[in-house]
Amino acid sequence: MTTTNVLNEKNKDFTLFGDKHKKHFQVIEKTYQNNIESDYTDKIEALGKDFDYSSNSNHFWGDRELSTLYGTPLYQQASHAQKLALNHLYWVGQYQHTASAEANTMLYNQITSGVFAHVGGYETLCQELDFETTQERHHINTFHKIGYKTKIALLGKESFGNPLHKKLNNQTQNNLLDKFQKFPNQEEIQDFTFRLITKLMHQGKENYYSEYLKHKSDSIPTTTGGLAGITASPSVFKYLSLNWGSSPFLAAQYYSVRMVANMSLKTYEYHYYKQFRDLDRKGEFVPTPIAVSYYHLLDESFHTTMSQTIAQEVYKDFPKPTMYEKLLSNVVILLLQRGLLSGLSAALPATFRDDVNFMPSYYRLLTSPLFNKMSQEDALHWMEKCLCEEHEGFHVNLKYQQTLLNDLRRFFGHLEYLWPVNREMRLMAEGGSIEKAIKRNQIAFQQFASSVTA
Ligand SMILES: [Fe+2]
Ligand SMILES: [Fe+2]
Repeated sequence: MTTTNVLNEKNKDFTLFGDKHKKHFQVIEKTYQNNIESDYTDKIEALGKDFDYSSNSNHFWGDRELSTLYGTPLYQQASHAQKLALNHLYWVGQYQHTASAEANTMLYNQITSGVFAHVGGYETLCQELDFETTQERHHINTFHKIGYKTKIALLGKESFGNPLHKKLNNQTQNNLLDKFQKFPNQEEIQDFTFRLITKLMHQGKENYYSEYLKHKSDSIPTTTGGLAGITASPSVFKYLSLNWGSSPFLAAQYYSVRMVANMSLKTYEYHYYKQFRDLDRKGEFVPTPIAVSYYHLLDESFHTTMSQTIAQEVYKDFPKPTMYEKLLSNVVILLLQRGLLSGLSAALPATFRDDVNFMPSYYRLLTSPLFNKMSQEDALHWMEKCLCEEHEGFHVNLKYQQTLLNDLRRFFGHLEYLWPVNREMRLMAEGGSIEKAIKRNQIAFQQFASSVTA
């Protein structure tokens, strides 16, 4: 049977079995209608445009718990002004990360929507995904605006390029350049190989190949920052771009990855949402960032519903996954667990990664005017105390970790094609240990300290 015939058969199946009446089609229809009706992007954009740090600077933006360095010995002795700043910088950091994650989302929404467009009956789903992509553009814009103004006010222009930052950035860039310069053709060879393997692995499904990827025939789109950046290299994501764009099952499987992003965000955003409602009810001043979080959560709630529906229901409409598709899906979730969820930060609440990658940022923070430009010796002393010894901050973070772990287990428990290590989020569960986090931080800190003093 040719692929066209397969497609025709599939369309016939939809009409024959009345798939349109399946519950998830109604959910998709309702979500799309509700999302376009409620859409808070204009409101969010306006809040970002009018944001002025000084009018918001004397208020906490959400729970005090949601502050950089919360619960550490340094936080205990910080002044009120420093505590405010740490609370504001936490918001900025989290939403910078969210902005990068949503940039990833924009790409993969388009790639996967380009696959669903080839399967009959998913027009509304594609419209919703396109609409979400537009919404993310506005969200990202606003997060950047507030983040930029806040960082300038609190840390000065230098915070965007201080010498240590440059030194460390250059090291990373040189590593990347090295990789490509040694073998001038390496990237082309790699792309060619990726295309070849993907084609072989998805034989007979050529008609599903993403429209979006067809228009990007010269280079394979990939992504670097956000959740993707933590999960795997840009090369791995090129390979995933091709695969998520080649089969309906894998296109739907991408939404289990997106669901992790949705749920991770909600871990802290929900607290801002609650704070907004409390302040609003009492008729008190609402800091702009809390309002942005509140409206963002409302927009995102539709995205979360879509991620859940596609990842848990829509994939069942498609041909069952091949061995290869199962393997790839499991590897992706395993990488995601390892990169994003298998640690416990000492100084960033609701962050389930080791502090190794944040050490340059902590150092910059402590040597900034906010901490009276601590000396190198003092900064390293405090970093060691905050990252390598047990304190309240670890316990606060563990509480968030347990909540997200339970939510993710409930979500992944439904996906029968996953290995138990993924269904039960075993890597994440193992990461929920203060003792292990301290041990890893001790090793990373020694290396960091010697790179700074070298
Ligand atoms: Fe968003
Ligand atoms: Fe979203």
